[in-house]
Amino acid sequence: MGEETGWEGTPLSLEDAMGQAQFLEMYGGAVQSAMEITKGIIERLEAKYRREILSGISGRIKTPESVGRKLIKKGCDVTLENAVSRLNDIAGVRVTCYFLDDVYELARHLKKHSQVRFLKEKNYIEKPKASGYKSLHLIAEVPVTVQNREMWIKTEIQIRTLAMDFWARIDHRLCYKKEVKSSKSIQKDLREYAEIISRVDVQMLSLRKRIDAL
Ligand code: GTP
Ligand code: MG
Repeated sequence: MGEETGWEGTPLSLEDAMGQAQFLEMYGGAVQSAMEITKGIIERLEAKYRREILSGISGRIKTPESVGRKLIKKGCDVTLENAVSRLNDIAGVRVTCYFLDDVYELARHLKKHSQVRFLKEKNYIEKPKASGYKSLHLIAEVPVTVQNREMWIKTEIQIRTLAMDFWARIDHRLCYKKEVKSSKSIQKDLREYAEIISRVDVQMLSLRKRIDAL
């Protein structure tokens, strides 16, 4: 996508352009579509394994301010065309599972789903970010019907465990202050806590497997 948006040369500001009905239909539709596909897979897995897998799921469209900031960070002009072609996460879905094996199983099913065009995986579980952040990110296109036409829209699906989500949410709360980001000792502690949480996460999975085997 990108070339047939019909917005080329539009004089609108990014904020106005992103507020247009067609844009919201496309990206809001993508969020909805990705959430429905994900919930469908999880329902089948929960029936198969007879246990609860999903702790939470949410979706959002990136705000125009955040889109603008990211384009500037990438060295691009702040235009709708660049946003649509350069950003993978205008549509975003976050899925929280109880256990680590479920994160990978959900990702495996998403990648081969007929309504998902898988593009890219970023495995921040195997390779955490410098902050300590862990999650599995899938970039994929999902189908959306816009004015009777099917379009495939890029969406970022973040899949993580409840433990990873606990860390990420607290990190997000704590790191809103610039001073936090520049303090080496605070950064070190946050990374260490991510490691501790991750060890417990793995232990909880072993515990579940022991209980499953009873
Ligand atoms: P962004 O400009 O941050 O979106 O980076 P990116 O395009 O390289 O994408 P990336 O795969 O790094 O994932 C970015 C997303 O992951 C963010 O929008 C957050 O939701 C999440 N994330 C990444 N790093 C951190 C972190 O250190 N802490 C928390 N809480 N979330 C993070
Ligand atoms: Mg992002």
